[in-house]
Amino acid sequence: MAKNMKQIEYKFILLGDSTVGKSSIFSRFRSNSFSNNSIFTVGIEKMVVNFDNIEIDKNKNIYKNFKITLFDTAGQERYKAITKSYFRDSKGIILIYSINNITTFEHVQIWLDSIKDSLNDWKRSGYAIMLLGNKLDIIENNINERQVLIEEAEQLCKEQGIYWGGECSAKTFDLKQFKEIFEKFIKEIDRKSTRLNSSHDQISY
Ligand code: GTP
Repeated sequence: MAKNMKQIEYKFILLGDSTVGKSSIFSRFRSNSFSNNSIFTVGIEKMVVNFDNIEIDKNKNIYKNFKITLFDTAGQERYKAITKSYFRDSKGIILIYSINNITTFEHVQIWLDSIKDSLNDWKRSGYAIMLLGNKLDIIENNINERQVLIEEAEQLCKEQGIYWGGECSAKTFDLKQFKEIFEKFIKEIDRKSTRLNSSHDQISY
């Protein structure tokens, strides 16, 4: 079957408070591994992840290859200035909180304000934000550990016009499951990007 195979390159950045699991999700993409003793990220790390043959429109037989450069950032306060300098080029911003830590969820709003301030200044267009709740395994082991309801996260996404990626676990989800979450986000970005004609807008959901 003949396919329209364009390759599109995007930069994605992992953001969120320290210890929410950004590096652990990054490790899933790098080596499909997990460590209970992950160390604080210093500065920025990056890697390329290919998403090939993504079905964009089955009826029109449109498939695309995406080359995503994924950036892992440091959540600690002292690195915020460095991290902010990476928002600028990011097409996709993946904002992460821990389901068992309400403070990390409350701080999502601060991250959003910071992103929106920076991007407005830079007059960029077409970026998208995905919210992910991490450490689902902890809640599956003990329901009392839950500090953030799914409904609260969905509500925040609606209010802020960002994409709800769902709940995940860097510990128990494998690479395939993370690729599926990211693939849906990529497809959303592609779908909305093609419709976006205003030059200063964020992609809303
Ligand atoms: P910074 O580098 O400081 O910004 O932190 P980070 O967001 O990169 O967090 P990191 O991935 O280093 O994880 C912090 C701690 O949480 C580590 O001990 C991880 O093993 C643990 N952790 C991360 N994700 C999960 C998860 O899904 N489930 C469980 N149980 N632990 C997790």
